Amino acid sequence: MTTKYKPPRLRNLKPDKRKGRKKRYLLIPLFLVLLLGAGVLLMLRWRAWFGNPPEAPYHTPEEITRVTLTPGSDFTTERTLSWRSGEYLVPSALTLQEITARGDTLAARRIPALGRLVKSRSGKGCFYHVSLDSLHVGSRYLYQLQSGEQRSPVYSFAMPSERECDTTRFVYLGDVQDPQAQMSTTFFRELRERLADSIQFLALAGDQIEGPTDHYWQCWYQALQGWSTRLPIIAAPGNHEYLKRGFARELDVRWVPQTNYPLNGPKGFLQRSYYIDFPLMRFIVLDTTDIMWLGSINSHKSWLRRALSSSRQPWQVVLFHHAVDCVREGRKNIIMHHIFKDELLTYGADLVLQGHDHGYARATTRDERGDTIAPAFVISSASPKVYRNGFSSVHDRLGSGLQLYQDITVTKTQIHYTSYRFQPDSIPRDSLLDRSKLLYDELILRRGRDGAIHVEDKARTLPELFLYEGFGADSKGQKKAAQYAKEVKERRERRKK
Ligand SMILES: [Fe+2]
Repeated sequence: MTTKYKPPRLRNLKPDKRKGRKKRYLLIPLFLVLLLGAGVLLMLRWRAWFGNPPEAPYHTPEEITRVTLTPGSDFTTERTLSWRSGEYLVPSALTLQEITARGDTLAARRIPALGRLVKSRSGKGCFYHVSLDSLHVGSRYLYQLQSGEQRSPVYSFAMPSERECDTTRFVYLGDVQDPQAQMSTTFFRELRERLADSIQFLALAGDQIEGPTDHYWQCWYQALQGWSTRLPIIAAPGNHEYLKRGFARELDVRWVPQTNYPLNGPKGFLQRSYYIDFPLMRFIVLDTTDIMWLGSINSHKSWLRRALSSSRQPWQVVLFHHAVDCVREGRKNIIMHHIFKDELLTYGADLVLQGHDHGYARATTRDERGDTIAPAFVISSASPKVYRNGFSSVHDRLGSGLQLYQDITVTKTQIHYTSYRFQPDSIPRDSLLDRSKLLYDELILRRGRDGAIHVEDKARTLPELFLYEGFGADSKGQKKAAQYAKEVKERRERRKK
């Protein structure tokens, strides 16, 4: 019996079906190329996206360290003191003595502390805290901490005076992120020498540390040199305070126990996103690193709306890590830009303090006549690590390769915002340079007769500085450097017009 020849199936296809099959054959190599590309990208970016700095094994000594003063939800009457000691929970307390505004020293009282054992990747430690309320305007408080047999030195802090309730002055820093703690130690010393008696708190826009390890927290407290025992710190977590867990992120386990911020944040973000009420401003802090999924976006949106719109104070200041309009070349944060920027504009933020980009940028909002109005958005950095900036027209003022601090004064009628460079190393530290020579930016936010907050740019005549030079020495790096120099030149020419 002969078998009838059966042609291959392809030949049986109609011409258009054959075309479809060919297209599919072409798609397979394309898919493989894409897969290979994704694999290479994943390998190159693995550490940045998923890697964590290793945490060396450590022991927590039985000694009271890492003392941190933070405000409660009412800045004029509430403070929390947090500290660390040992690896086993022991009875702990704070002894508090008030010296009134009139100079009377009142009897000391002992307040038991709450403690918790915190285990990180490579060690453990016990954190304690005491929350104080009903503190008095103008009083100074002496305090001593006790954990088991350990006692701290006697420290002190002062509550704002009547005058300070009418004028709130503070320093805001972008990322400090200083792995060696050398530059930051010098900077904090400079700040103490210039401003210790004048400011009421320190605001930090995240990435205080290089990574979530005990060593880097040690560096942080070393750089502060005890300032956190008497100056309240208001901080937002940044991505460098987070552990990467695959695609998820987890805030370092030490963050909450060593700051114990108010419990008025959105669900799932307690003591990470929060707000603090001052007589003249509501100060709102967002933990933007973990606002990644629909649930956290929605809960933060409604919480931020409520926090902004329910405030009775004349000013709303908002602090967070990831900027709504990034200044680092090529960087974008879609969630902050497309969702939270609108919320801040619509619900009445006046001044927005941001970090993450290791450069300087300031943006204002324009009304229909083109006048600059609030909110003003600022990005700053005090870190030795610097990034190349982009040149988006959204930013009124830019800078790169700079380490800056912002000295901000809030009164009933205005916010006076100034940004200063830290003193360059070329000038000896024993003589602090006249600060006016280090001024980098200056704004005044003032409520106009129309009810809008107008922003006056006082830095128009100050030159912008572009000191970033982290381009490689190879031809690719030199090409990038030449392109950057060209963009800087074009910007300077545009600004002259
Ligand atoms: Fe960051």
